[in-house]
Amino acid sequence: MMKMGIIGFGFMGHEHANMLLAHFKDEIQLTAVCDIADEQLADAPEGVTTWKDADEMIAGADFDTVIISVPNTLHLTMVQKCAAAGKDIICEKPAAMTVAEFDQMVEAVEKAGVHMTIHQQRRWDVDYRTMKEVYDRKLLGDIYIIKSQLYGFNGNMHDWHVYPELGGGMLYDWGVHLIDQIIQMVDSKPLTVYADMKNVINANVDDYFKIIFEYENELGTYYLTPKRAWFIGGTTGSAVIDGTFRAQGNTEGKIVRTTHLLQSVPGRLTMTSAGPTRSFGEPEPGLLYEEPLPEIHTEHKDFFVNYLRARKGLEDYAVKLPEVRRVLCIMDAIRESARTHQSVKLD
Ligand SMILES: NC(=O)c1ccc[n+]([C@@H]2O[C@H](COP(=O)([O-])OP(=O)(O)OC[C@H]3O[C@@H](n4cnc5c(N)ncnc54)[C@H](O)[C@@H]3O)[C@@H](O)[C@H]2O)c1
Repeated sequence: MMKMGIIGFGFMGHEHANMLLAHFKDEIQLTAVCDIADEQLADAPEGVTTWKDADEMIAGADFDTVIISVPNTLHLTMVQKCAAAGKDIICEKPAAMTVAEFDQMVEAVEKAGVHMTIHQQRRWDVDYRTMKEVYDRKLLGDIYIIKSQLYGFNGNMHDWHVYPELGGGMLYDWGVHLIDQIIQMVDSKPLTVYADMKNVINANVDDYFKIIFEYENELGTYYLTPKRAWFIGGTTGSAVIDGTFRAQGNTEGKIVRTTHLLQSVPGRLTMTSAGPTRSFGEPEPGLLYEEPLPEIHTEHKDFFVNYLRARKGLEDYAVKLPEVRRVLCIMDAIRESARTHQSVKLD
């Protein structure tokens, strides 16, 4: 039985405790949780010891593996302390504030000979996995564009998200997920990145970004028309998901194909509300047809399913440290591009 502790028992700490108790009771025993705030510890699960000080918990509690879910700027110190005490580590995303910090974390775990992986559980999102399946199964021929967009209405962000000193900002928060998803999906390396970052309504942290590799990845938190959208354009079809996050996933979408593949369709003058057009009117009946998207079954708990199998040596960790480092390097390039308005070459 793996004995687990959680340091940082706020929103994500509670999520982790609920996940472990709901799905992994037979393999993982949650033994200790730590938070500097009394109110966070008040509803700690029965039988779990509570600690206000991470050093005291590391020295005194009974656990071999730790989930680190304190604010981003504290990840490095906590990883160093836990590694030195011989604990195996799952650290929340973004792993670190900088590549240099991440390198220090890897140095600490290698020196201590402990395991570490990062909780990039959005690799198991339904919308993402659906589009990855479309990509992996080559359902659209040669792909020429992938767009991943996420717009929410909660633009005036909250808690640590608004404070630079706690690692706030949308690039650290959701950027690290969206970049990770695209990098994992596409089987070639992007050569350059061009990015724009804005503070639309938050004075101190970014709340909008647009990132262009050979494909687009765009996010803003102050759109009053929230949506989660994917678009993949290939030579034999287009795939789209266009909706908002739903309790049961987000796969309302379709693949659209044409009966006139690679044939020139004669221009047909259509009068639209935006004037006459020969290219952008309604398609002729019968020209386009639709197919359902592949059906995907995936859950965030699959992160822990993989984690347990990896710890037993049955498979590799799904989230590998060099992959995490690469995303942090790309985030540096994104900041440079946003500052200089130039595209930046990626290694
Ligand atoms: N993987 C995901 O989808 C996801 C989602 C949300 C947050 N996160 C990450 O989880 C981490 C926590 O975010 P959150 O939204 O849960 O924040 P939160 O503010 O709700 O929780 C953080 C907790 O850490 C506690 N804390 C601060 N300093 C501490 C210390 N020195 N020792 C012990 N506890 C301390 C705070 O009191 C707070 O309760 C961040 O790294 C964040 O990026 C990941």
